[in-house]
Amino acid sequence: MRKNIVAGNWKMNTTVPEGVKLAKEVNKALEGQDVNCDVIICVPFTHLVPVNDAIDANKLGLGAENCADHRSGAYTGEVSAPMVASTGAKYVILGHSERRQYYGETSETLKEKVGLALENGLTPIFCIGEVLEQREDGSYFDVVKKQIEEALFNLSAEDFSKLILAYEPVWAIGTGKTATDDQAQEMHAFIRKTIEDKYGKEVAENTSILYGGSCKPSNAKALFAKPDVDGGLIGGASLDTESFMGIVTAF
Ligand code: 13P
Repeated sequence: MRKNIVAGNWKMNTTVPEGVKLAKEVNKALEGQDVNCDVIICVPFTHLVPVNDAIDANKLGLGAENCADHRSGAYTGEVSAPMVASTGAKYVILGHSERRQYYGETSETLKEKVGLALENGLTPIFCIGEVLEQREDGSYFDVVKKQIEEALFNLSAEDFSKLILAYEPVWAIGTGKTATDDQAQEMHAFIRKTIEDKYGKEVAENTSILYGGSCKPSNAKALFAKPDVDGGLIGGASLDTESFMGIVTAF
């Protein structure tokens, strides 16, 4: 059966000491709690080693927010999948809309990144989602399907089964405007059907599909109650232990 997952995406926030403090707080809050989901934090590259040292991997998973589309070499400023894996991190967010929008990431580069992440034992948390214009002109199902097909459908069923997907409608990210639970369910069911058509029912049923975009303690319960919403990818609310835990305990 697929897992319920709540993952934080810290984005470009916190210094190293602040990040270590926050990670310790979250880890402590999870101690002695019987939560009904896997909890992950995805943090800036600089934070991976000290945060890994500060948390209990049995309670709290650790991920990066990106990795390079090459293995190694003359790519100044890039951080490769083997480097991320060597920190102890187990996950990597790939294809976040902010990377697609501001850093020109395409399905072609994402295909490389996904392959390298898997090759290095990292679990990609692969993001997909439409912008407001596509929501309004009705093309959002086609857009999301194309994002999945182009970057992921080259994978074998075995490799595809290792992925976590995150549907993040771009118009809901950091805007305070959450997709309704019905809008999320509609898209998540569509994504699952798209997976089923390619890889079969078993793979589709076992894939965790997270929702992201202004998810908060106040709306998490309704979102997570939907049959095809298997958790959340949390931006702003993951920077505060109480808010993040409010979402974690919504399961
Ligand atoms: P917010 O929760 O801040 O809207 O961000 C969502 C997101 O982009 C998570 O990856």
